[in-house]
Amino acid sequence: MVTEDLTDSPEGIARAAEVLRGGGLVAFPTETVYGLGGDARDDLAVARIFDAKGRPRFNPLIVHVPDVAAARGYALFDDRAEAVAAAFWPGPLTMVLPLRDGSGLSPLVTAGLATVAIRVPAHPVARALLRAFGGPLAAPSANPSGKVSPTRAAHVRAGLSGRIEAVLDGGACAVGVESTILGLDGAAALLRPGGVAAEEIESLLGVALVAGGSAEKPNAPGQLASHYAPAAGVRLDVLRPKPGEVFVGFGPCDGAALTLSESGDVVEAAARLFHVLREADDLAGPSGRIAFAPVPEVGLGRAVNDRLRRAAAPRR
Ligand code: TXA
Ligand code: MG
Repeated sequence: MVTEDLTDSPEGIARAAEVLRGGGLVAFPTETVYGLGGDARDDLAVARIFDAKGRPRFNPLIVHVPDVAAARGYALFDDRAEAVAAAFWPGPLTMVLPLRDGSGLSPLVTAGLATVAIRVPAHPVARALLRAFGGPLAAPSANPSGKVSPTRAAHVRAGLSGRIEAVLDGGACAVGVESTILGLDGAAALLRPGGVAAEEIESLLGVALVAGGSAEKPNAPGQLASHYAPAAGVRLDVLRPKPGEVFVGFGPCDGAALTLSESGDVVEAAARLFHVLREADDLAGPSGRIAFAPVPEVGLGRAVNDRLRRAAAPRR
């Protein structure tokens, strides 16, 4: 794939929005770092974000929206969230809030969680792009997994050229560190320090922020290991299912009730993963069993297997 270089002219922004509407990926500037954007409602676009970054697991992504009104369509705002939004948006602050029912977001964006991380960026080019696109953008930092976050278009090109459809050049990022992540689905928690000082949030809310584990660095690791577990029991790397098991195939599989990808495509398997987990669980029932065919440990197959191993982990 040849990565298009776009300028922050009206034509460049219109082209970027068109690429996003076609399910493509566009790296774009925010005031913190460059984000790798894709339509947050499109399972395949979100799966391709993980693929392009080479992420070995599906941690949840931040959803970018143009204003607080749009944010209310995806997350439930309490009084604290409204106050924080009024004080710090647009700006380098992300809130983790309860996910709204029927939000339409891909479950891959939230990694199947009941919460969503959401922010309104301040960068004029990000805002223009969000308005032109007219929908929510999932966007982690636009760097290969494990590499430093990019603050210039040239950094993005160095890491992701040939792996994404376009880079929208909006110059250097002013803040240079990621957004602060504030958890508000319970006691106000600092999940990641960043562009807005914790003290400013504390003085607004009038409470001390508790130190919170993020989905990446959970306080209690076991919590995450079985978090995505369906109610049914799960067996992996199954070639021949036992009688009564709901068999989920990958590639051609005899007797499969469901498939992660009929054609054996790991990106499609990632896009379908959370939907299939849910469907298989419904089919099996709480005391039933689900058997997954092997998924190759290549590309996004590694992230799919990581999530399936968590689903199969012993419960407590
Ligand atoms: O400044 C930023 O925030 C940049 C720009 C592009 O907006 N984005 C960014 O995204 O840093 P990313 O994907 O690299 O970081 C997202 C962080 C991860 O550490 C993830 O664990 C956390 O947000 N996160 C997302 N959703 C969450 C949730 N529902 N609960 C807890 N943590 C969440
Ligand atoms: Mg990052």
